[in-house]
Amino acid sequence: MLNALLYAPEYRPNMSSMIRSAEFYGLKTIYIYDRNNLLSPPNNKTTRADMEHLARVWTAGAINHIDIEIVEDPIAFLSEYQGRKIATLVNESSNQLNDFQFQPHDIILFGSEKDGLEDRAIPLMDASVYVPAIGHTPCLNVAVTFGIVMHQAFSSLKA
Ligand SMILES: C[S@@+](CC[C@H](N)C(=O)[O-])C[C@H]1O[C@@H](n2cnc3c(N)ncnc32)[C@H](O)[C@@H]1O
Repeated sequence: MLNALLYAPEYRPNMSSMIRSAEFYGLKTIYIYDRNNLLSPPNNKTTRADMEHLARVWTAGAINHIDIEIVEDPIAFLSEYQGRKIATLVNESSNQLNDFQFQPHDIILFGSEKDGLEDRAIPLMDASVYVPAIGHTPCLNVAVTFGIVMHQAFSSLKA
């Protein structure tokens, strides 16, 4: 089974959307390096309401059907991960997504909205993929990238 690691997402709506898409595509687990504490906000009324909203509305209930594994130390996690580690990078020299053959135990990494994937994680990657831009905007929203990459990854596994 393919896996996905959300690497330090910064916005709860994006994270929720990726959890929803992951469950939609049948992932049993989603790994999250929660550097920005989106999953464990301070215990006040507003953030509790945000979390309930996340569960019920933004993920359309998906959160009830997928395990969320919090990754405390992404470098240790990636070093020990048995399958290939595939980064999604805003980098034209990465493999073009549609030319890349995914393998069943790959874990696909999605970077944070502002900074992408941390430099320290890059040397641990086995490969990277890029969604080529046709227009002038090179960079997609991370949750949009997630949907596109998941769709193509599962298609390439069937081919
Ligand atoms: C908004 S981008 C990060 C931008 C950051 N300035 C950078 O250059 O990495 C957030 C994440 O979305 C994904 N992403 C966005 N556009 C992409 C593209 N064209 N190809 C591959 N991944 C993309 C990557 O996972 C990236 O880490």
